[in-house]
Amino acid sequence: MIIVKTIEALQEAKKTLSGDIGFVPTMGALHQGHLSLIQQARRENEHLIVSIFVNPTQFGENEDLDAYPRKDDADIKICTVAKVDILFMPEISVMYEDDELSIGAPARRGYVLEGEKRPGHFDGMVQVVMKLLNLSSASNAYFGKKDAQQLALISQMVKNYFMPVNIVACEIVRDEMGLALSSRNVYLNEEEKVRALSLSSSLKAATKLVMAGEKNVEVIKKEMLNVLDLADEVEYVAIVDRTFSALKEVEIGNSIILVAAKVGKPRLLDNIWI
Ligand code: PAF
Repeated sequence: MIIVKTIEALQEAKKTLSGDIGFVPTMGALHQGHLSLIQQARRENEHLIVSIFVNPTQFGENEDLDAYPRKDDADIKICTVAKVDILFMPEISVMYEDDELSIGAPARRGYVLEGEKRPGHFDGMVQVVMKLLNLSSASNAYFGKKDAQQLALISQMVKNYFMPVNIVACEIVRDEMGLALSSRNVYLNEEEKVRALSLSSSLKAATKLVMAGEKNVEVIKKEMLNVLDLADEVEYVAIVDRTFSALKEVEIGNSIILVAAKVGKPRLLDNIWI
């Protein structure tokens, strides 16, 4: 594995690759969820690039960029074992200059749900993902379904800007209890971990209702809220189509049921694609 920190070194390292490139962008602190993206990309491509970059522009004013977990040494080991060809670890000054020309999230789909709770987050996210996709020259780029709105916006960006990359949506990875894996789970204590299971339980309850024939979004959301009473603060439950437009009735094969809630300190997200 080659570790590169500059654009020039990345371009030089890419010259040694011929054939399909798979790309997994990350912010580091790699866990089993990232590893499953990396392994899928490894299986499906001749070459594999992973990036680790804690992107400052996707953190809001109240979000602590400095507190974001950083585990460079462990991450490098994981990428080596996973047979990553190139690991790109740029500094902020490599990725950004002052007074940048910038793209932003779309006005409607980028500012609901996560976009409403974290204003500006998706502007910074699409900005960095466009840079990273361009730099990687990837044929296939891998993103988790857990960040479903992020995935939908990246797919829209690739479509709107005619970018020559295939976006691969990867399944959510859960622990043995059913908790969706996230870098934020490290902030949960044992008691909170148990209460955090109410997110996946609410999705199970919603799915059960849908399977029993219930389509009305308000009825399903009400049931989810009942199950979520162990969470400290429910930020939203929502049912949208795959492009993140709100739905009144569940459309089988085109719906995502989402939940965001605080348990202890961290905000947790989960969803299921119906
Ligand atoms: O999902 C993430 O880790 C980040 O939002 C991403 C896609 C790496 C962009 O910084």
